[in-house]
Amino acid sequence: MSTLGARSESGAATAAPLPSLTLIGTGTVGAAFVSRWQRLAERGLALPRLALLANSRGAFACNGDPGHALRQAGDAAEAGRDPQTVRDAHLLRGDVVVDATASEAVAARHAEWVAHGVHVVTANKLGNGADLLRAQAIVRAARAGAARYGDAATVGAGLPLLRSIRELVAGGDRIHAVEGVLSGSLAWLFDRYDGDRPFSALVREARDAGYTEPDPRQDLSGEDVRRKLLILARAAGFALEGHEVRVDSLVPALLAQAAADGVDANLQALDDPLQRRLLEARRAGAKLRFVGRFDADGAEVGLQALPADHPLCAGSGTDNRVAIRSDRYREQPLVIQGPGAGAEVTAAALIDDVLRILS
Ligand SMILES: NC(=O)c1ccc[n+]([C@@H]2O[C@H](COP(=O)([O-])OP(=O)(O)OC[C@H]3O[C@@H](n4cnc5c(N)ncnc54)[C@H](OP(=O)(O)O)[C@@H]3O)[C@@H](O)[C@H]2O)c1
Repeated sequence: MSTLGARSESGAATAAPLPSLTLIGTGTVGAAFVSRWQRLAERGLALPRLALLANSRGAFACNGDPGHALRQAGDAAEAGRDPQTVRDAHLLRGDVVVDATASEAVAARHAEWVAHGVHVVTANKLGNGADLLRAQAIVRAARAGAARYGDAATVGAGLPLLRSIRELVAGGDRIHAVEGVLSGSLAWLFDRYDGDRPFSALVREARDAGYTEPDPRQDLSGEDVRRKLLILARAAGFALEGHEVRVDSLVPALLAQAAADGVDANLQALDDPLQRRLLEARRAGAKLRFVGRFDADGAEVGLQALPADHPLCAGSGTDNRVAIRSDRYREQPLVIQGPGAGAEVTAAALIDDVLRILS
């Protein structure tokens, strides 16, 4: 099979007659992407051809039946988790790669693909939400104009957050501060948490409903919110490095040190500290919200007790809610709210980006 690496490095890629789609990642989001793509195709929507699915175990040609390729991908034997499978994708200038992994190795290739004329649409936050140099390389590659970069699925699962910030900046507005409830799972947990049930019981319920990662420490540590905040800040023109974001993790040491199979047994380590935070907030007439915030003075992620009428206290369920303050929205922030979590909305955001880029 031809590889993009060989073609693009030699600069010899030729225009494909019709753009085709390669989906990397066939897990929760990848599978939702394939189902949505099939539903939309059945409804007669004009979609690019879904040519290839890849995961860490191999690459699978769709041959007109992505459902079959998805089953093959799911059934494939373990092959040592070698990202080589990604390099084996047959990519031509004008094609689209959809990254539905959380893979560092795949994210490390985003800028190169865009520079070589392959559009990238991603739910993977490690492209522009990790290393600043990598994020800047992606922006430079996209500005060069050979291909575009679609990242609406990385923050707020397609809510018009990044788009709004970029449009404000492009229109000459200056962003002063952005703060938001950026994690659907933490939004759900603190919307529900009223002290009647221990916090750990709610975490188990959220995990069983698929709102958290299988290991809920990934959500509770604030790491996911840090990445989203970096993506928003960079879109707003703040060249923020990951280490500049102060993250106040909810995970106590005992739980942080637990082995993967010991997480459940140690979840109750969350209960007493959070019970105290809840009582303090109540005494002050406040509500607990897990918030990410940046402005010119810095960036932080953590649990905050906010006045009940604060813009971030509205919203329910897994809603994300983000307040943007700028020259234009100085007195009252621009507030964007809506479902910001889950495989379905994320897959929809990926397909929207694909269609926007190819339109
Ligand atoms: N789940 C959600 O609701 C949600 C919502 C918003 C955003 N996201 C983001 O979407 C991304 C995917 O999430 P997910 O929940 O679908 O994860 P997942 O179920 O764990 O699936 C990840 C997929 O990536 C593949 N993969 C990993 N490393 C790879 C590599 N080097 N080369 C090729 N494929 C590789 C895995 O391959 P194997 O199958 O071989 O392991 C798997 O198919 C993540 O970045 C996540 O943060 C998820």
